[in-house]
Amino acid sequence: MKFFDVYPRFNVNVVRGKGCHVYDDKGQEYLDLYGGHAVISVGHAHPDYVKAISNQVATLGFYSNSVINTMQDELSEKLGQACGYEDYRFFMINSGAEANENAIKLASFYNNRKKMLAFHSSFHGRTTAAARVTDNAKYSPAAYMGFEVTFVDLNDIEAVSKELETKEYAAVIIEGIQGVGGIQVPKDNFMVQLREVTEKTNTVLILDEIQSGYGRSGKFFAHQYAGIKPDMITVAKGIANGLPVSGVLIAPKFDAVPGQLGTTYGGNHLACAAAISVLDIMKRENLVANASRVGEHLIEELKKIKEIKEVRGRGLMIGMEFEQPIKQIREKLLYEQKVFTGVAGQYTIRLLPPLCLTMEQADEFLTRFKKCL
Ligand SMILES: Cc1ncc(COP(=O)(O)O)c(C=O)c1O
Repeated sequence: MKFFDVYPRFNVNVVRGKGCHVYDDKGQEYLDLYGGHAVISVGHAHPDYVKAISNQVATLGFYSNSVINTMQDELSEKLGQACGYEDYRFFMINSGAEANENAIKLASFYNNRKKMLAFHSSFHGRTTAAARVTDNAKYSPAAYMGFEVTFVDLNDIEAVSKELETKEYAAVIIEGIQGVGGIQVPKDNFMVQLREVTEKTNTVLILDEIQSGYGRSGKFFAHQYAGIKPDMITVAKGIANGLPVSGVLIAPKFDAVPGQLGTTYGGNHLACAAAISVLDIMKRENLVANASRVGEHLIEELKKIKEIKEVRGRGLMIGMEFEQPIKQIREKLLYEQKVFTGVAGQYTIRLLPPLCLTMEQADEFLTRFKKCL
């Protein structure tokens, strides 16, 4: 049998990682400004993380949700403290798409409505509801089409209000910062107005912080720049530094009804050990503040480069848009300068490094990057 390979791939066999670097099978070192797609938060092979998950798997890797698991309580408490949502509850699953599925499901159980409102250029995953609220028709086959969704422009509060006033929408789903859409930051005052109109119409507000959350934006969640509190927040990627773990932060107004949500793997012992270790490291090493400081420096320096049409983003979630396709620049960066970066469409390079990126590594990136222009 062969692997069912649906991925366009870099021609590099990555076999090892350490901090903000990865290494190929020939021992070549690469600076990682991609973080394996915003997944590596505390750095590759962090020794405390390695120890925590090694100890856990040697003790009890998995047991089902039919028994008490105090690690779920410890994780929920630590997460509540880290992000300031201590009165919310935390439900755990295994991937970003699954987190959004569960949030959408709970919203519809809550107000018994069917429709979803989402935004142009959004990305929320590739399973049924998550694919439908993603603004890309390619991700949804005919079988998904029964699910009703309307797309409006980001920052267009009039369009949002017009739809929500029909009171037909179960929820609005929005990314803290659009990632796949090219690092589009919603305006803070739009987020405030969105919160007001969702409250007024009893529509659930779901913040997808799967890419922009967990410190990446320089605050724990990107929506915290606007000072709002959504009804649900979905998290994945950086939460467990590479283990498949995700979750939904759920406001007190939702009831935890047995049978509505459930999962075999979600919140297992190994997943909890990994996620607890990530939060402990983030706190000890001040990684949210680091993302803010190093990100600000990178954005400021990138804005001085005249070849870049626009620099967007917050913290260590940065998009650089060019007038011309960026394929050549990225290839030079990778194959000549040994730097991994991400992409959004044909014109935008995405930077999503581990949150422990140092100022020196940021400057090293800038030096290598300038050689590719
Ligand atoms: C904002 C956002 N939501 C959801 C997802 C889907 O996550 P997963 O691939 O873990 O299902 C992604 C993945 O890139 C994402 O960036």
